[in-house]
Amino acid sequence: MKLLVLGSGGREHALVWKLAQSPHATQIWCAPGNAGLAQERCARGGALVECIGLGAEDLPGLLAFAQEKRPDLTIVGPDNPLAMGIVDLFQQHGLRIWGPNRKAAQFESSKAFSQEFMEKYGIPTAKSGTFTTAAAASRFAASLGGKCAVKADGLALGKGVLICRDMAQADAAIEDILVKKSFGAAGQKLVIQELLEGLEISLHALCDGTSAKLFPTSQDHKRALDGDQGLNTGGMGTYSPTPFLTDYHLAQAHDAIVKPWLRGCAAEGIDYRGILYPGVMLTKDGPKILEFNARFGDPETQVYLPGLENDLVELLEASVSGSLAPVQLRWQPVACVCVVLASGGYPGSYAKGQPITGVNEANALPNTKVFHAGTAKAGDQLVTSGGRVLGVTAWGNDLRAAQQAAYAAVERIHFEGAHFRRDIAGKALK
Ligand code: AMP
Ligand code: GLY
Repeated sequence: MKLLVLGSGGREHALVWKLAQSPHATQIWCAPGNAGLAQERCARGGALVECIGLGAEDLPGLLAFAQEKRPDLTIVGPDNPLAMGIVDLFQQHGLRIWGPNRKAAQFESSKAFSQEFMEKYGIPTAKSGTFTTAAAASRFAASLGGKCAVKADGLALGKGVLICRDMAQADAAIEDILVKKSFGAAGQKLVIQELLEGLEISLHALCDGTSAKLFPTSQDHKRALDGDQGLNTGGMGTYSPTPFLTDYHLAQAHDAIVKPWLRGCAAEGIDYRGILYPGVMLTKDGPKILEFNARFGDPETQVYLPGLENDLVELLEASVSGSLAPVQLRWQPVACVCVVLASGGYPGSYAKGQPITGVNEANALPNTKVFHAGTAKAGDQLVTSGGRVLGVTAWGNDLRAAQQAAYAAVERIHFEGAHFRRDIAGKALK
């Protein structure tokens, strides 16, 4: 099979790495890809992955490429092309593509849509309201004593959520989104949620339109600095599984979250084929959904795929064709940890083009894989080209072994200004 993967991050490197291991894959293109995934080869036939110079949001360009090269399956990594309707577009042209269509992708592209859906179908979530005027939003925030999460409705590069502890902060956040339009069109509406307390985890479910299979739990580390200090980032590291939901509780979460969600999708005519990734707070009253994402998490994907025993091409095919129900997800009995190496200054401004050394040495360690995110080649030299540069990933018999292996690999890698968190998986090991 010929595969086209869209996106350029660590998530996409992990996807390409796993897809390339499948005996079904004979050719893989990536748009636009990165320097690391361009070094992967298909296990069958040995073809090198080819990066094509098209952005993941260049829908006309991608359509023209797919019409010429006829990939057997296109796999969408990031959220924006889903919200732009790439799945609908490819399907209209008879091209097979994996990911939710535009209507289904609203679970991520509109927080108001998700919140209304959860309330209608009894999915546990925060107490919330949706508003288009500042006065009404402020009254609701006041009813929560100002302790709330104020969220722009649409996609805002992960920056549209403002956590407020009092009314002054809440009113400033409301003003920012609705009046100053700091997030542009994404802020025509906003959602206000009560602040939930607890441990935050990521769930992932592979869906085929009528059924859904939950992955083990994982946990991201969104703040830039140790101890969850500093600014919010795209994610500084992950591990899986977490010790916070036993198999029994995961089965309960399936009944409380996934079952009513599937029922709601059927009732609303939503044909969801892809990954549903709920962000979940484990509150003292049970798991509650903070938000839905309509794609694989990054860097959650990096800690899921090394332990996945199933053939990923077959899983995505089953998801697209609606034949997932009899399939069993199989996981190796390992724990996995991913430590993100970021450019100095990230998530603020940072330098690019810093030479990177030690990646081959790190990859040579047992049970270790360095996934690239913001990397490029300058001649023969690997250099930094983004905020999150590498996802140094390792697995072992338990979390402690995986954590030690990941940090041993991190020590081999150097670039000017590199920064990373030293406490990935720390909450689980405390
Ligand atoms: P979201 O993009 O909606 O997941 O929000 C980004 C981050 O804000 C989440 O990962 C949480 O850490 C935090 N957050 C969002 N909603 C809430 C809430 N209702 N209560 C507490 N924290 C929240
Ligand atoms: N891990 C955060 C995200 O993918 O949105």
